[in-house]
Amino acid sequence: GLPARVRIHEVGARDGLQNEKATVPTEVKAEFIRRLAGAGLTTIEATSFVHPRWVPQLADSEQLFPLVSDLGGDGGAPGVRLPVLVPNERGLDRALALGARHVAVFASATESFAKANLNRTVDESLAMFEPVVSRARADRAHVRGYVSMCFGDPWEGAVPVHQVVRVCKALLDMGCDELSLGDTIGVATPGHVQNLLAELNEEGVPTDVLGVHFHDTYGQALANTLASLQHGVTTVDASAGGLGGCPYAKSATGNLATEDLVWMLQGLGVDTGVDLGRLTATSVWMAGQLGRPSPSRTVKALSHQ
Ligand code: HMG
Ligand code: MG
Repeated sequence: GLPARVRIHEVGARDGLQNEKATVPTEVKAEFIRRLAGAGLTTIEATSFVHPRWVPQLADSEQLFPLVSDLGGDGGAPGVRLPVLVPNERGLDRALALGARHVAVFASATESFAKANLNRTVDESLAMFEPVVSRARADRAHVRGYVSMCFGDPWEGAVPVHQVVRVCKALLDMGCDELSLGDTIGVATPGHVQNLLAELNEEGVPTDVLGVHFHDTYGQALANTLASLQHGVTTVDASAGGLGGCPYAKSATGNLATEDLVWMLQGLGVDTGVDLGRLTATSVWMAGQLGRPSPSRTVKALSHQ
């Protein structure tokens, strides 16, 4: 069976934009997030509080977050979650100072990506997250733990399941409220996904703390999502318009497009709360801002782009 409802964790403003070469104006990012909320998305990852040299596109997070934080449920607005990425205590301090209530740490199942993304070994990065998670929880913030390279890694190839299990358990032991299993380079196929989910359950990680995060490099993101839903997963990460990735980095393309996901879920009778017309219009508007069409098949079909 399939779940009656799926919560979409929208990552277009963070994962989608973080690789954009040309700087997107802060006001455009804020407008993008407001339009995503207007389309009915209730979890909208807003930005990252990382080192500005590592992700220059998101160096404006201090300016951006206050422009959208009114969506976060204060002042009677319907509650939209606005998670932000925080790699370390410095990032957490910056996020909490602006009133962030949902934060995410991001671990890797492989040593190569931990080094490339965080300048740390896997264990050093877990040690870096420990005080972040405990302090966030003491402040009653919700904590997501990403696990990247759950299936394949550009340097190491196929990733053994036990490496993923170890990092997932470490993040849960630290106190993360939920996990997101990342197929960072989009190489997974449905059998691999089912196998990892079953293995995690067997090791004591329940499905209800698991979200899935598929990049669409080989066009498998939707199939992998369906396999996850059939396993009982109800949180799915997606990026409006399929934003993300860089044409020069062959191992990383955009996330599963939110429109493609909503189209499939509508057809399956699974509720998302998203207005597909308004979402598509948002992605068409954003494509105009970025100067190139959305790669999403659903956006193309619905907008005759
Ligand atoms: P580092 O160079 O080891 O940093 O980078 P450090 O701890 O040695 O500190 C060096 C300097 O950076 C210090 O300043 C710190 O204060 C400063 P100095 O004393 O030299 O003047 N600093 C900071 N400044 C602002 N904000 C901060 C911060 N932290 C340190 N938070 C670090 C380590 C973690 C900072 C760096 O590697 C980093 O920022 N990495 C972020 C990489 C990133 O954002 N990647 C993309 C997100 S992950 C992803 O996309 C995958 C995902 O989508 C799931 C999937 O698809 O798999 C989530
Ligand atoms: Mg990602």
